[in-house]
Amino acid sequence: MTSENPLAHSKHVFRAALLLLAVVVALILGRLFFVPETWGEYGFYRGAAVGEHRAEPVRFGGDEACEPCHDAEYAEHAAGVHAPVRCELCHGPVALHADLEEGEKLAEMPVRRGRELCELCHRAQAARPASFPQIDVREHVLENGGEVTPDACFDCHDPHSPY
Ligand code: HEC
Ligand code: HEC
Ligand code: HEC
Ligand code: HEC
Repeated sequence: MTSENPLAHSKHVFRAALLLLAVVVALILGRLFFVPETWGEYGFYRGAAVGEHRAEPVRFGGDEACEPCHDAEYAEHAAGVHAPVRCELCHGPVALHADLEEGEKLAEMPVRRGRELCELCHRAQAARPASFPQIDVREHVLENGGEVTPDACFDCHDPHSPY
């Protein structure tokens, strides 16, 4: 046991090094195959995603998109306290309802006649700014001599111009 080759026991070091090399090669190959081509082009995301999002069709048109076909609602709304609330916020995106180029109706536009629509913004909540008009629904309706029904708000308020 005296004249032993000093390298005799280094075999497992070489094996470990070989394994490490294999892992590194696998990582490099994996990156080559799985990391998208345009990754990092502009930042820490896939560069091509920008173009893909830009190519999506535009679905919202703003209040002006409704005016040519609903001038009465448009005028009433623009002159009232709900002017800052976009038509499409209460209804839906114009693209689902009308073809703006052909100027024709494509499908029904949602009309939500329940009071949940109004409560979404006006139900009293401590987290809302105190300056925003908010009500305790039950108290408010009874106080004004109304009945608490699923569409109570519409008995007294017009959604397009509530006052
Ligand atoms: C605060 C929410 C809200 C906003 C903002 C709003 N609407 Fe409405 N809209 C309603 C509700 C609710 C009804 C149903 C009213 C009813 O049944 O008395 C309605 C009804 C309508 C109707 C008639 C449908 C029917 O069957 O009576 C049209 C047309 C319409 N809205 C267009 C518009 C346009 C155009 C705008 C923007 C200029 C707009 N709305 C903004 C909530 C809203
Ligand atoms: C190219 C014309 C056109 C445009 C633009 C248009 N509408 Fe309409 N809309 C119609 C027609 C036609 C009807 C059915 C007749 C009616 O109620 O006046 C209708 C009906 C509606 C109705 C009643 C429910 C229904 O589908 O019948 C609502 C609510 C409505 N539109 C909201 C809107 C809103 C909000 C916009 C804008 C985001 C808009 N519309 C843009 C043509 C249009
Ligand atoms: C998307 C949010 C939103 C929805 C939904 C909404 N409102 Fe409003 N409402 C507003 C905003 C914003 C104002 C303007 C607040 C201001 O002037 O500070 C307003 C103002 C009002 C006012 C006048 C309050 C005042 O003291 O000036 C009334 C009344 C009202 N809304 C009733 C309703 C009714 C009824 C509905 C349901 C048909 C409704 N709102 C749905 C956002 C909303
Ligand atoms: C019976 C009639 C009646 C009904 C129903 C009714 N309101 Fe009112 N609402 C009024 C009157 C009148 C006022 C103005 C006096 C006041 O502030 O109470 C008013 C005021 C408001 C205000 C402004 C409050 C403020 O502090 O500035 C909001 C917001 C409002 N209503 C939302 C609603 C909502 C949402 C509903 C449905 C849950 C509803 N109202 C149902 C009659 C009614």
